[in-house]
Amino acid sequence: MAESWNSPEKFNSEALQWDDNPRRRALALKVATAIITAVEPLKTMHALEFGCGTGLVTLEIAPLVGSLRAIDTSREMLGVLQEKIRHAGISNIETACLDLSSPLHRGEPEEKFDLIYSNMTLHHIADTAGFLNRLSTILLSGGILAIADLDQEDGLFHDDPEEQVHHGFERTALAELLQSADFEEISFKTAFVMEKLNREGKNAAYPIFLVTAKKSATDSTITPKTGTPS
Ligand SMILES: C[S@@+](CC[C@H](N)C(=O)[O-])C[C@H]1O[C@@H](n2cnc3c(N)ncnc32)[C@H](O)[C@@H]1O
Repeated sequence: MAESWNSPEKFNSEALQWDDNPRRRALALKVATAIITAVEPLKTMHALEFGCGTGLVTLEIAPLVGSLRAIDTSREMLGVLQEKIRHAGISNIETACLDLSSPLHRGEPEEKFDLIYSNMTLHHIADTAGFLNRLSTILLSGGILAIADLDQEDGLFHDDPEEQVHHGFERTALAELLQSADFEEISFKTAFVMEKLNREGKNAAYPIFLVTAKKSATDSTITPKTGTPS
């Protein structure tokens, strides 16, 4: 069974103060703008954000798509988003507490999406290759994936040295994983450069990429059924 790094306690405890950090808000807005520019979302689209947190990106995307599912493994982060949805009277976002990287959810009937996007969550998921394969199976052919995350960093971005995370991603290596997961038209751009005091107290600049990719129209991840239909 693949290792899971998921521990919602940290994000549960940070949920109520999450939006108070101006760097986070600025990053989310830049990433949302970069996704909108790259993807040109449509009202016909059914979209998914994994690791939606308090909805900083999703609340920018929701008005542009038909329907949206916002999932996260932290109930408290989702609670903040649910309160925003209720307060604004938004009707096209459904939230769910769900870990798509967990094998527990495999084998259930799959909901399929035209667009899957995310901001700063991929580095929290242990098995990158397995997770990209999983996303590939729930994207419709020709559907778009848009993921923003840290470029490979010095390992000092996160304050807690014990936190299990990837220290960003090397773009070429991530592109190869995407190709193996049946994605094409893979394209990277720098969406934001976050300046912050790192764990050693030094002011450091952390670039954050947006990678977009298209699910291949010919689905090689689906194993053809064998045997006679009953
Ligand atoms: C760094 S925060 C980013 C939140 C939000 N995307 C934003 O831009 O503000 C990472 C989020 O991913 C969630 N998360 C971590 N592992 C996850 C998983 N396996 N599936 C879904 N969400 C996950 C966390 O609970 C947290 O809300």
